[in-house]
Amino acid sequence: MKILVTGGAGFIASNLVDELVSLGHSVIVIDNLSTGKTENLNKEAIFYRLDISDKNVETIFKKHRPDIVDHHAAQISVVNSVSDPIKDAQTNIIGLLNILTHSVKYKVKKVINVSSGGVVYGDPKQLPAKETLPFDPLSPYGISKTTGEYYLRFFSKVYGLKSTSLRYSNVYGPRQDPKGEAGVIAIFSKLMLRGKAPTIFGNGRQERDYVFVKDIVDANVLAMTKGDGEAFNIGTGIPTSVNQLFSVLKTLTDFDGEPIYGEARKGELFRNYLDSAKAKRVLGWKPKHDLENGLKKTLGWVRSVND
Ligand SMILES: NC(=O)c1ccc[n+]([C@@H]2O[C@H](COP(=O)([O-])OP(=O)(O)OC[C@H]3O[C@@H](n4cnc5c(N)ncnc54)[C@H](O)[C@@H]3O)[C@@H](O)[C@H]2O)c1
Repeated sequence: MKILVTGGAGFIASNLVDELVSLGHSVIVIDNLSTGKTENLNKEAIFYRLDISDKNVETIFKKHRPDIVDHHAAQISVVNSVSDPIKDAQTNIIGLLNILTHSVKYKVKKVINVSSGGVVYGDPKQLPAKETLPFDPLSPYGISKTTGEYYLRFFSKVYGLKSTSLRYSNVYGPRQDPKGEAGVIAIFSKLMLRGKAPTIFGNGRQERDYVFVKDIVDANVLAMTKGDGEAFNIGTGIPTSVNQLFSVLKTLTDFDGEPIYGEARKGELFRNYLDSAKAKRVLGWKPKHDLENGLKKTLGWVRSVND
């Protein structure tokens, strides 16, 4: 198949592009390299350095006529979305609309849209969070990801565009940037491998659902042929506290110190983890990596880039 991957120079989508290329697909990448890196780009993929809200996006659709669009390009920082909500909306809403309107015009068979189970439910009223929980975003990033899902529903109803939204939990793994939603793993790994103590903000009991990037890639590949018009949580369903994370990394890195405890971050959610039973039922997806396994692979990568 011809697959257009937006954000393919970034952490998650570059791992996806590698897998799609190895499965024999022909892959086209659009990325403006705002946070993505050229070294992440797969050499077999055709690359366009372009903003997803640019009018020249149409030329790419016209030339390549992709079967599938897998949309990962986004402004991903909650903090930046608060300081500059217009910039967030420009990419996460206007950029998405540019991709969706051309997907309709050039008869794309399916769009996969990336949402976030970490932000669309706000402070979840029930855990593990199920897709049936109401939207309650608490930041401009959360609002733009939620809005994206509404636009997908609209394009599906009005234009018959097939689509799936994947709501990731906190993704970690090779090529992860410390600024992402699971940035704590990248930060801790790098410091602890150098024998330096990481800082834990608050008491370290805040819990997240850390999912390994290769499992996220599997979910995307499955969603290309399964499911339509729905959103799926993609997470492990297992809450892990920052203290637990520190202690697993301590064993894996042979770090012999203790963490530094700093002041709690204002507005940080205390607990979030996702119920992915629907993804298992409809997509046939379940994570293959437990935390230890995923962290071992991540540490291997951190070592290789810092050697
Ligand atoms: N990392 C996580 O834990 C997590 C969790 C939930 C959802 N997500 C979503 O997954 C997707 C990928 O995130 P990531 O963690 O790999 O981040 P990333 O920053 O590594 O990837 C985003 C990519 O999009 C590109 N990009 C940004 N704005 C663009 C624009 N206007 N035009 C073209 N390209 C643009 C960046 O250069 C980058 O390569 C995003 O949609 C993000 O919201 C990530």
